[in-house]
Amino acid sequence: MTETTVTDPAAALPAGRRLEGKVAIVTGGGSRGPGIGTGRAAAVLFARNGARVLVVDRDEAAAKVTADMIAEEGGEAATFAADLTSPDDCTAMAAAAVSRWGRIDILDNNVGTEGAGTILDVDPAFWDRVIQVNVTTIVNASRAVIPVMAQGGGGAIVNLSSISATRPRGLTPYTAAKGAVIALTRAMAIDHAGQGIRVNVIAPGPIYTPMVSSEGMDPELRERRRKASPLALEGTGWDVGYAALYLCSDEARYLTGVLLPVDGGTSIRSPDR
Ligand SMILES: NC(=O)c1ccc[n+]([C@@H]2O[C@H](COP(=O)([O-])OP(=O)(O)OC[C@H]3O[C@@H](n4cnc5c(N)ncnc54)[C@H](O)[C@@H]3O)[C@@H](O)[C@H]2O)c1
Repeated sequence: MTETTVTDPAAALPAGRRLEGKVAIVTGGGSRGPGIGTGRAAAVLFARNGARVLVVDRDEAAAKVTADMIAEEGGEAATFAADLTSPDDCTAMAAAAVSRWGRIDILDNNVGTEGAGTILDVDPAFWDRVIQVNVTTIVNASRAVIPVMAQGGGGAIVNLSSISATRPRGLTPYTAAKGAVIALTRAMAIDHAGQGIRVNVIAPGPIYTPMVSSEGMDPELRERRRKASPLALEGTGWDVGYAALYLCSDEARYLTGVLLPVDGGTSIRSPDR
């Protein structure tokens, strides 16, 4: 007889506690200003679902705002100040999570920065910086965390790309960096599958977060970004956070190397709609 009854990986968890018992690190888990960045949203949702969360940011005050939000809801979080472009800071970050909670199950590689210009007008130091902040931070953080995850039997990593990776629009350093994040994710997914580690990538579309609002977005541009979605919805940090929650939960145990756009359909719309 063929076996058709298999175990639901989340069945044993208390309702609404999809990450119960797990330890998560969210990089860039502060936000550039007041409001909900994609990392802040993920950190809050991870904690709401039972994870203990290390909120990491070079701006510790911003990380503390996130940790306080979690504490107010009765969740468990701590902050860690680090510049993720530094391998040493990343080693210290992983050590901080381990010394506090003994394991690491989830890594949300959320740090990123913008990068406008063409290769003709971009300053070489700026080019290096955009690659460093968007790509090398993922390498540094993952290199520090993967051995700990592997020791604990596996884990889940989510990297942040952008639909700009495949739809260039005058942000060439950013496009190149976020394209590299997709390739890096697929390579990591293959390299670390044998250690029980899943690696997936989210490509947000136009999301209204402090990254875009802190410098005061022109209301007309904001409206154009909203209308780019066939759903005519404005993307929020929460939309990206919920995608990260799914990808990091055991419900996604059969997903690795996947690119998940979170863009309200923006990237599939035909120009002659
Ligand atoms: N907002 C959007 O429309 C959008 C679209 C596509 C992709 N993304 C990506 O989503 C991610 C988060 O974006 P956001 O809009 O929430 O940004 P945000 O600027 O609000 O948050 C990013 C956080 O990362 C921190 N950070 C930056 N460099 C760091 C470093 N070297 N070390 C430690 N911390 C550092 C910042 O202090 C900030 O708190 C980024 O990777 C971004 O490229 C955003």
